[in-house]
Amino acid sequence: MTMEFTTQTAERLPDAERERLLSAPSFGDTFTDHMVTISWTEERGWHDALLRPYGPLVLDPSTQVFHYGQEIFEGLKAYRRPDGSIAIFRPDANAARLNRSSARMAMPQLPEQAFLDALRLLVDADRDWVPSRQGHSLYLRPFMIATQPSLGFYRPSNAYLFVVIASPSGAYFKDGVKPVSVWLSTEYTRAADGGTGAAKCGGNYAGTLVAMRQAAEQGCDQVVWLDAKERRWIDEMGTSNMFFVYGDRLVTPELTGTLLDGITRDSLLTLARDLGYPASEERISADQWCADTESGELTEVFSCGTSSMITPVGRFKRGDETWVIGDGEPGPVTLRLREELMGIQYGERLDQHGWVHKIA
Ligand code: PLP
Ligand code: COI
Repeated sequence: MTMEFTTQTAERLPDAERERLLSAPSFGDTFTDHMVTISWTEERGWHDALLRPYGPLVLDPSTQVFHYGQEIFEGLKAYRRPDGSIAIFRPDANAARLNRSSARMAMPQLPEQAFLDALRLLVDADRDWVPSRQGHSLYLRPFMIATQPSLGFYRPSNAYLFVVIASPSGAYFKDGVKPVSVWLSTEYTRAADGGTGAAKCGGNYAGTLVAMRQAAEQGCDQVVWLDAKERRWIDEMGTSNMFFVYGDRLVTPELTGTLLDGITRDSLLTLARDLGYPASEERISADQWCADTESGELTEVFSCGTSSMITPVGRFKRGDETWVIGDGEPGPVTLRLREELMGIQYGERLDQHGWVHKIA
């Protein structure tokens, strides 16, 4: 079944104003002219698919999402290629993950084709908003909220709204490829067995703000999460997954159900193998991280995610102690993988895996 979208054309922001906004890189503060909304109700299923002017959503104060946090989201990017065309990176993987999050949060499944069509329509309508500067892109934020106006909490909401908004983005971490410092959170945890750690739901993020503040107080840029049961195994970082590099061998924490199965993580496991780096998914303990850093066996650590791409980790702090990884500078494997992944995303390197979806 294909969903018919109705288009309500927005007034375009004047070119000069848009160019001014595109020249000031930030993350998530500026939005394009349009957005997409699709409604769902128990009676009608998905309906009223609209490409419409970007603007506020009017919701009753009793709307369920405000009270019980039934919300999921995705994050992916559209890239400007050297010939001026635009491509979205692995949107089918985001569509599949949205539906996995949806299943966990007792929300309706969105047909993958509707997700892809929504992105295509929005990016095509707002194509002038896709930056052409090196390292910049158009960040796409699909999300779904429970919209039944009721404080009753007896069963899942009987109405939902799926929305896609788009925001031109510069580098997520202002310093680009400069290494970040991270804080191992021992007081708080992010996700436990049987919980929502593998779903991309808003509540997972709200619960981590206090630890982010703690990390900042410790002079660190990001939080690293340990498993909730033993407080021993490394799960992931605040908004990204992690890779540990031993010479030319890569290890990333295995998917235990308490961390997000990042699409960048998955892409890098494939690219590492393409480039001849052995890569595996294993459990890594915080003690091992410290010991291998001290012995020098661990040569690089980096984080990866859509918004922050690949970011080297220069040092980490656990309690009062700080460890510097290698010489604290970005390592060769990190930089090689970064170049390869960004090369594919920006159309400068061959996409052997069918990851790049071109917009006409
Ligand atoms: N882990 C968390 C908690 C995230 O928020 C993200 C970002 O989306 C990731 C990992 C990386 O996922 P992806 O590579 O799909 O962006
Ligand atoms: C993304 O990388 O898409 C994310 O979701 C991170 C976001 C929390 C800023």
